[in-house]
Amino acid sequence: MDTFEEINMKGFADEFIDPSLDLFDEIEKLKKEKNAVILAHYYQEPDIQDIADYIGDSLGLSQQAAKTDAGIIVFAGVHFMAETAKILSPSKKVLLPDIKAGCSLADSCPPHLFKKFKEQYPDHLVITYVNCTAELKAMSDIVCTSSNAVGIVESLPKDQKIIFAPDKNLGAYVAKKTGRDLVLWNGACMVHEIFSREKIIKLKERHPGAKLLAHPECEEAILKMADYIGSTTGILKYASKHEAKEFIVATEAGILHQMEKENPDKIFFPAPPDNSCACNECPHMKRNTLEKLYLCLKNESPEITVPQYIIEKAVKPIERMLEISARLGL
Ligand code: 13P
Ligand code: SF4
Repeated sequence: MDTFEEINMKGFADEFIDPSLDLFDEIEKLKKEKNAVILAHYYQEPDIQDIADYIGDSLGLSQQAAKTDAGIIVFAGVHFMAETAKILSPSKKVLLPDIKAGCSLADSCPPHLFKKFKEQYPDHLVITYVNCTAELKAMSDIVCTSSNAVGIVESLPKDQKIIFAPDKNLGAYVAKKTGRDLVLWNGACMVHEIFSREKIIKLKERHPGAKLLAHPECEEAILKMADYIGSTTGILKYASKHEAKEFIVATEAGILHQMEKENPDKIFFPAPPDNSCACNECPHMKRNTLEKLYLCLKNESPEITVPQYIIEKAVKPIERMLEISARLGL
């Protein structure tokens, strides 16, 4: 018999779930009863992706959160994503299956330190990657995601001075692509920094036809070797359209579920990390489980709340991003 702690560590919340229940059916029933929608990121476990109403990258998820007419949004992702949904739809109840599902990148930029950093560059515009806290968004001029960051910077006048935070790897990639001199915050994602250049080279030698697909949160050494760089949606679309049969995927391994579903004739290799752990899985994203999703919908908890004064400030740079993206088709 498992102890209470052991049950919790496996991802089951502290409430007994009748093992005879079919959680897929129960979640479907609750969704209808409560007029709820489930939005899931590609890094969620396969069961969650399969039950979601919408699966996408951060931009797609923000767009869905802004336009849904459901009363409850269950956000199967991490804290900053659920916060963004709440900011865009403040009258809706936003639930996150595990309240501790955070983000190492968001944590790498504490708002009180960023405030001091920003004060050193009073004539700079602040562009923040969506992977940051609501408080940081409230200090920003424009938010961006990995799929529109280059386009958003390019939409600004060439002489516009810009701070880019919190991801230094995405920032360096955007600076290179746009030829702009960006002031970067020194933050990074623990998952995208772990890939081993040497092991990827060896994998490529064994599979010479394989294309390397990388997320721009990866370090420059990985991006330099990549055949394609883009958001999770971009990576998925590239693999589906390209005639190659093998792909090495340098982003969180959860994306492989959709890649394999859409392309049963192709082979996908998760890019190897520089040690033997499963570090290409995001421990924050993977805190959510089907059991927790069921309980959170049943109990309407844990709920994400954002103070009204933060919502009022943070909504402007997010709406600016959505407006630029829609206008430029990013
Ligand atoms: P995208 O899905 O927007 O590419 O973001 C990746 C990511 O790291 C989310 O945490
Ligand atoms: Fe944050 Fe990285 Fe996990 Fe994305 S993959 S949620 S950036 S820690």
